[in-house]
Amino acid sequence: MRITMIGAGYVGLVSGACFADFGHQVCCIDRDPEKLAMLKGGKIPIYEPGLEELVTTNALQGRLRFDDNLADAVSQSDVVFIAVGTPSRRGDGFADLSFVYDAAAEVGRALKGFTVVVTKSTVPVGTGDEVERIIREQNPAADFAVVSNPEFLREGSAIDDFKRPDRIIVGTDATGAKAVMGEVYRPLSLNAAPIFYTSRRTAELTKYAGNAFLAMKITFINEIADLCERLGADVQDVARGIGMDNRIGAKFLHAGPGYGGSCFPKDTLALVKTAQDAASPIRLIETTVSINDQRKRAMARKVVDACGGSVRGKTIGVLGLTFKPNTDDMRDAPSLAIIQALKDAGASIKAYDPVGMEQARKLIEGIEFGDSAYAVADGSHAIVIVTEWNAFRSLDLKRLRALMAMPVMVDLRNVYRGEDVVKEGIAYSSVGRERHLVK
Ligand code: UDX
Repeated sequence: MRITMIGAGYVGLVSGACFADFGHQVCCIDRDPEKLAMLKGGKIPIYEPGLEELVTTNALQGRLRFDDNLADAVSQSDVVFIAVGTPSRRGDGFADLSFVYDAAAEVGRALKGFTVVVTKSTVPVGTGDEVERIIREQNPAADFAVVSNPEFLREGSAIDDFKRPDRIIVGTDATGAKAVMGEVYRPLSLNAAPIFYTSRRTAELTKYAGNAFLAMKITFINEIADLCERLGADVQDVARGIGMDNRIGAKFLHAGPGYGGSCFPKDTLALVKTAQDAASPIRLIETTVSINDQRKRAMARKVVDACGGSVRGKTIGVLGLTFKPNTDDMRDAPSLAIIQALKDAGASIKAYDPVGMEQARKLIEGIEFGDSAYAVADGSHAIVIVTEWNAFRSLDLKRLRALMAMPVMVDLRNVYRGEDVVKEGIAYSSVGRERHLVK
């Protein structure tokens, strides 16, 4: 298959490289000359384990190329994926679709022969209809079908998620398009990943419903964690206990500082707006959004309590800044709200992240950055684990203790056992579990 991928962002780049790896001919289109120059030089503008190697190998073997000439690529393609950004619009929280519609218009002008146009960006219900209308307007005689094929990959494990999905969702009623999509994903269906065909609108909504459900699941366990702290119960055991029920499932039940990232915050908000507009509000998700927003800042309270009621004039060492490990993505990261709240409470902040510091420096002002966990601990009155990078799972606690001005650890990802930390003379608080004070 000859494939054009419009947008060499997270989803576009990973999907493009994986399709090339399946043996398809892929051209990734992007407008950003800097990004294109990097990609042509074998450099990847984002941090994603394994991606650089995948891109380089497939580019060298001639299956993957990068270009800015959309019309050329589209006119020679069987399938065109639209994987451009859909940021939240300032003010109303709706997904901003201008990039999708611009791409659709350009595709419409360039189409030649039967072409399947696929929206891979997460787009509100009805976007496929509008994409179809725009293409038809630009090119009344065009032979095409518009398909919704949402992507479910997670940052940090994107390639694996793409190559071993739980399911592939294809939204279309057009028989010709179904056959083409079956061919595009054939290598995966051989691995027994089911392709689930449904209507275009249903596919669009499925993506939002899936992400909203996961966001709600996380928020549920976070609230249970707060209750555990009040009642002297242990949230990890509660999660394990309920997770063993197959109807609930064990995944996405890690209590923490609230979800962040490029998808959950944006997609839950977009679903809330869509539902309100359709006069069918989803109150569970409205509440999820507001609980999660408040939670990030509320985590600073936990630090204040662990420090004896005030952080004024104290130095707090923050370990981990990205919204989750194995990415340099800082979008809606809990660290941003937590650091701001601690600064507002009068603390000085020192922070370290194994990969995200470059991005973090652009977003956070008035804090000091250290070059290791130990540099951050040096002179700190508390260290706070905000992101569960592997590097923070086996810290030398004796060394930390010796460096710190006050031996306090707040573990917002529950990576340590309290007994192990307090044994080294460090007071320990976590999320939804017992506090350990140094005797
Ligand atoms: C998510 C979806 O998982 C993916 O299917 C979709 O395509 C894009 O959005 P991603 O944002 O990359 O992927 O990360 P994910 O691993 O899902 O984590 C999202 C957020 O939830 C992170 O902030 C993470 O720390 C938090 N989280 C996740 C929890 O707090 N607890 C959990 O149990 C799981």
